[in-house]
Amino acid sequence: MESIVASASSQIDDTRHENVPRRGPPGVFVIFGGGGDLTHRLLVPALYNLASAGLLDSHFSIIVVDRADVSADDLRQSFHESLENFVTSRGTEAVSLHDDVWTRLSSSIDYVRGSFEDAATYDTLAGKIGSQNCIFYLAVAARFFGTIVDQLGVSGLAKESGKVFRRVIIEKPFGSDLASAIALNERLLRTLDESQIYRIDHYLGKETVQNILALRFSNGFFEPLWNRDNIDHVQITAAETVGVEQRARFYESTGAVRDMVPNHVMQLLAMTAMEAPISFDADAVRDEKTKVLKAIHTVQHHDVVRGQYAAGSIKEQPVVGYRDEPGVDPHSHTETYVAMKLMIDNWRWAGVPFYVRTGKRLAARKTEIAVHFKSAPYALFRDTPVDRLTPNIMLLHIQPTEGVTLQFSAKIPGPTVHLGGVRMKFDYSEWFHEGPSTGYETLLYDCMIGDATLFQRADNIEAGWRVVQPVLEWMHAPAGLDFYAAGSEGPKAADDLLARDHRHWLKIGS
Ligand code: BG6
Repeated sequence: MESIVASASSQIDDTRHENVPRRGPPGVFVIFGGGGDLTHRLLVPALYNLASAGLLDSHFSIIVVDRADVSADDLRQSFHESLENFVTSRGTEAVSLHDDVWTRLSSSIDYVRGSFEDAATYDTLAGKIGSQNCIFYLAVAARFFGTIVDQLGVSGLAKESGKVFRRVIIEKPFGSDLASAIALNERLLRTLDESQIYRIDHYLGKETVQNILALRFSNGFFEPLWNRDNIDHVQITAAETVGVEQRARFYESTGAVRDMVPNHVMQLLAMTAMEAPISFDADAVRDEKTKVLKAIHTVQHHDVVRGQYAAGSIKEQPVVGYRDEPGVDPHSHTETYVAMKLMIDNWRWAGVPFYVRTGKRLAARKTEIAVHFKSAPYALFRDTPVDRLTPNIMLLHIQPTEGVTLQFSAKIPGPTVHLGGVRMKFDYSEWFHEGPSTGYETLLYDCMIGDATLFQRADNIEAGWRVVQPVLEWMHAPAGLDFYAAGSEGPKAADDLLARDHRHWLKIGS
């Protein structure tokens, strides 16, 4: 495949101008479970990056709530150590820390030691917060979500008054099936108004995921083609090379379907398939996302492949199979891979399959959306040496690199008509000069300024679970698990799923 790189030509409108957002409001950022991994790896580095970019108010402070017997100084020290590792540019290049920014931010960190169930913890917090704006970040195991929000209600901490806001950010997993997600929503809504709840899906913090809407709706030439008349099918891939890592306990009862599909994969699908919202107002966008998820047909058993990785190799290093990972049941039927064919029942997409797949220990780390267009009519080339036309594909790359590639046919130079597939690529990092980012900055900042567009509303969450609910119900039966070698493209049954429709997956590995 030859390649044409879309150069940063000065002849077209240069969009690399500075986009300067306003400073967030004053207030307190309370992190429940602040001693944990998420806080060290993502939250504190993201807050530091926001502070470096001048986006935190001078009256912004952090309170960490946890059970560990540590001092605020110990905590500041351990945050500083993790900052050195996690403040990176697009997750790769190291960036040197600004001591003045860290000194200012760390001096605002306070620690409350207490149990999440204990009313006294919330009394102490209330004394420290007073009448300031407050964001409560629940970086805790899912079983504490309901308890903490109940306690915020009882203590009066959830109550907003005048312009003073109280918001709660909730991490995934939001429920473990449709019924538990509905029950959790009901429980939270007994204390909070929907407008106070910010349910995080970290995929929505990724620049290219946000860019899907910009790309579709701010360009005249995509949207007219974005429908069943022109699109043959769509493939959504979220492939990882990592295995279960140290999360066997969580993963054994979760598996790939629950872990990735109702949330991340459904967000990618909704962004790709939704109708244009009437504005970029949070509710207008979320209305359209929910509508398209609700339009997905009930998934059929024969349209789902569940797989589990067996031993294999990743980057030429041997790795064990899932069942031999520490903490995993040697007879486990937990899936580490899932592929599904989904059909959307509306005017735009009737008859266009959306094939989605996600898995661990695959050939490469790659998240992308491939929009396959229908082939041009072949008739014109009948009497030429051309024997097939390269399909037009638009690839939205989400990770590891962020960008967009268009694949189309071009004539190979020479006296006879031979066609070759070429690729035109837009690479985010080449075009834009981005600051250091963990992927959480936009989400935290949006919550501070009260913009919920990138967060999931109760109905979005429930619509995602509704899609996978039939799969969760069949999963109790041990049958129907296909094995694949670690480092491969996934189970053969997933290839058969597309072969049945005379299609094939794009390769994950190079
Ligand atoms: C998390 C899942 O939500 O997303 C993990 O729990 C998965 O199992 C991760 O590895 C993938 O996120 P990313 O941003 O690395 O694609």
